[in-house]
Amino acid sequence: MSTSASAVVLEVSGVSKRFGGLQALSDVGLRIARGQVYGLIGPNGAGKTTFFNVITGLYAPDSGRFELAGKPYQPSAVHQVARAGIARTFQNIRLFADMTALENVMVGRHVRTGSGLLGAVFRSRAFREEEAAIEARAQELLDYVGIGRYADFRARTLSYGDQRRLEIARALATDPQLVALDEPAAGMNATEKIELRALIDRIRHDGRTVLLIEHDVKLVMGLCDRVTVLDYGKPIAEGTPAEVQQNARVIEAYLGHGHSTPTLPAAAPVEPEARA
Ligand SMILES: Nc1ncnc2c1ncn2[C@@H]1O[C@H](COP(=O)(O)OP(=O)(O)O)[C@@H](O)[C@H]1O
Ligand SMILES: [Mg+2]
Repeated sequence: MSTSASAVVLEVSGVSKRFGGLQALSDVGLRIARGQVYGLIGPNGAGKTTFFNVITGLYAPDSGRFELAGKPYQPSAVHQVARAGIARTFQNIRLFADMTALENVMVGRHVRTGSGLLGAVFRSRAFREEEAAIEARAQELLDYVGIGRYADFRARTLSYGDQRRLEIARALATDPQLVALDEPAAGMNATEKIELRALIDRIRHDGRTVLLIEHDVKLVMGLCDRVTVLDYGKPIAEGTPAEVQQNARVIEAYLGHGHSTPTLPAAAPVEPEARA
């Protein structure tokens, strides 16, 4: 299958990252077409979050080539990555806990807008208009993810599931080409997971591209167009969910990590909450 350059949102190849004696990523690559929900799965410690940290500029890779919408980019600084068009959420939620939900989304939106410090100091008319527009858009995004009624609540007072949704709203505020979600369902109950699935479906339907790390294999299989499986930092399979589910190396990787249940969905490892 051939895809034209503009149809590919993210193309990454040869990504390696070592931490001391640990090869966390070896020669990882993937290619995500516009409008896909692309899954990155694998056992606990496989390198999924490290991969996110590399493509979003938190960790400098030892090697790797990176293209966003056909243009090479260097993921060397977090704000440059945001401007280039990748937004993300974090496995360990990172919100401004004492700011309101609305303010948290407005912070995300500011990445995209122009009037700088001087505008803010003098509260120029352009600044005030821009601020009002940012606020309106932030409220829209809160409604979109289903927590509009909590706009004025401090982030710390929201339920865990709602905090995860707030992170998604903040990510969307940058109008990203790619939204990267690191275990968005972690800590959610069954109802919240169903709602999350509907939300991610809607994000795709509205024309965005999603890269999803998820441990809930049922969610991944139901949602993703394609999947890459990592094991010990190496890509061991790539394909549709149905294809990778049949892959012997994938089954072995999941079973080989001390999980004795014979079916893949049940064998998905549960990541401990606080692994720093
Ligand atoms: N900043 C770091 N320093 C040292 N080792 C790290 C760091 N971040 C991750 N690792 C290690 O890299 C490996 C992959 O971790 P991670 O990417 O978090 O896995 P996953 O998200 O797939 O569970 C693990 O062995 C982890 O302990
Ligand atoms: Mg992780």
